Amino acid sequence: MNRDVIIACDFSSKEATLEFLDRFSGRKPFVKIGMELFYAAGPDIVREVKARGHKVFLDLKLHDIPNTVKKAMKVLSELDVDMTNVHAAGTVAMMRAAVEGLTRPDGTRPLLIAVTQLTSTGEDAMQKELLIDSSINDTIVHYARNAKEAGLDGVVCSPLEAGMVKAACGGEFLAVTPGIRFADAAADDQVRITTPARALDLGSDFIVVGRPITAAPDPVAAYNRCLVDFLAG
Ligand code: C5P
Repeated sequence: MNRDVIIACDFSSKEATLEFLDRFSGRKPFVKIGMELFYAAGPDIVREVKARGHKVFLDLKLHDIPNTVKKAMKVLSELDVDMTNVHAAGTVAMMRAAVEGLTRPDGTRPLLIAVTQLTSTGEDAMQKELLIDSSINDTIVHYARNAKEAGLDGVVCSPLEAGMVKAACGGEFLAVTPGIRFADAAADDQVRITTPARALDLGSDFIVVGRPITAAPDPVAAYNRCLVDFLAG
């Protein structure tokens, strides 16, 4: 069973990231490296975090023509990450190319998931600016089906959408869900939020937790609280 808590390490330097990870002397958390850290610290930060024994979700959300995505994924496959992603809006052809590029000569590859609609995109903006006439839920489910058809392992969505994605694509299709907050904490800029325990009930496979852990007075305790609620729950 895959279920795990992923810490979004949204730091701007290698030093800040490693100083943060040094606090975790027991279980090594699954770490998400996003654009800010990757662009600031380069591929070396991935190698360093992997060498310290962490699993890595490289969250670069690729979206380009299929040939470019395939070649970029081939480079990323050599970084030995455990999970990475693309935008489903790049089409089934682009997602297929991503799978091809990511697959190593021995046939193995990291988990590959697709962003359906960003949680920052509301239905109104999607319909008026992107000219998508469907509801946001129908769009998310349709994009998830496209990702499945292309051979991907799952999608990034809010926990509130995990159930409908699973209903459409099957229980094995992964729901990787940010937007996690403790019941007694601030929402920050996240809108569609749930607690770790509720995310588990809703069918999330991986919860992505940033500020509730990174900005906590005791990040290790906050991480352990997520583990208890989400893994042991
Ligand atoms: O600090 P917080 O828990 O809100 O961090 C959530 C993380 O998940 C951030 O790294 C954010 O970029 C990422 N994310 C998100 N919504 C998406 C995709 C990624 O919040 N749809």
